Amino acid sequence: MDKEICQELGTKIERRLFDALAAEAPLVPAIAGSLLASGGKRVRPLLVGLCCRLCGAGITPETLDAAAAVELIHTASLLHDDVVDGASLRRGVPSANVKWGNSAAVLVGDFLFARAFTMLNRTKHPDIPRIFAEAVESMAEGEVMQLGVDGVSSPSIERYLQIVYRKTAVLMAAACRCGAILGGGGRERESALESFGRELGMAFQFVDDILDYRADPACSGKNGGGDLRDGKLTLPLLYALDAASDVERQDMLGIVTRPEKSAGAFRQVLEFVESRGGFERAREEARSRIACACRNLEQFEDNEAREALEDLAHSLGERDF
Ligand code: FPP
Ligand code: MG
Repeated sequence: MDKEICQELGTKIERRLFDALAAEAPLVPAIAGSLLASGGKRVRPLLVGLCCRLCGAGITPETLDAAAAVELIHTASLLHDDVVDGASLRRGVPSANVKWGNSAAVLVGDFLFARAFTMLNRTKHPDIPRIFAEAVESMAEGEVMQLGVDGVSSPSIERYLQIVYRKTAVLMAAACRCGAILGGGGRERESALESFGRELGMAFQFVDDILDYRADPACSGKNGGGDLRDGKLTLPLLYALDAASDVERQDMLGIVTRPEKSAGAFRQVLEFVESRGGFERAREEARSRIACACRNLEQFEDNEAREALEDLAHSLGERDF
């Protein structure tokens, strides 16, 4: 994001974000600070700021509080997610659960989550904390659904979409809606920007799920193949299964649901997904969601904030790391 508007916003957001980590317990800034300092695209706080600007308002201290708070919620969710997924690498460095242990990672996540709501309350807009509280409920629900231990969920594209909507899209939608509220956009613009964030979030997770198979860990900063290892059936594989014969589908389901998977099994699944066009179809679906997201921006004036949102959306849809 090299646009001037993003650089200006980015600098202010970084300052507010690191100020927000102040705590008596040194482990809080140590864990949260090292995760934040190791990278991250700051997509969600940029969405808050750019949507606020798109609605014609300037960036106030309240906007910065809300922008930093949404990144804290996202950071808390990653700390928890890495414990749930048993991940060992995040943003190219050992994940907090590996470096400091599960208890510290979960508790610092709890702290950030609570701090985020303290900051959201400072915006003095009653809808904003409520919108994020509902978003976090939804994220937790998506993660619970993804565990797949409820005995009712068989893998399907519909189920996958329900999970992605909850675990990823709702927070981006909330970030955009919050920006519109702070920008005084009014109900119709709030709703358009919420839809923009939702479609962007869906596309973001589709790409994340492609990259879990394909990205070089040196670029993505994550361990590749984690979804398959954890038995998560994501969009590329679901599309490939959809295009396969019954026999082939049963064979593949046998491999992917096995608790232990060898490197050979991983290669076999990768080749299957590739040969059945699963990656291509998932990427096309991501592009189509990005196009759909951007249609929600058409009612807005064509200014720097709108261009930045369009650029951000396209770069996320095309990213390969
Ligand atoms: C990453 O998914 C994780 C999420 C999108 C959401 C995680 C949400 C929670 C743990 C519940 C909410 C909790 C709090 C404290 C707000 P992924 O595993 O597919 O992506 P990855 O490859 O980046 O790990
Ligand atoms: Mg994960």
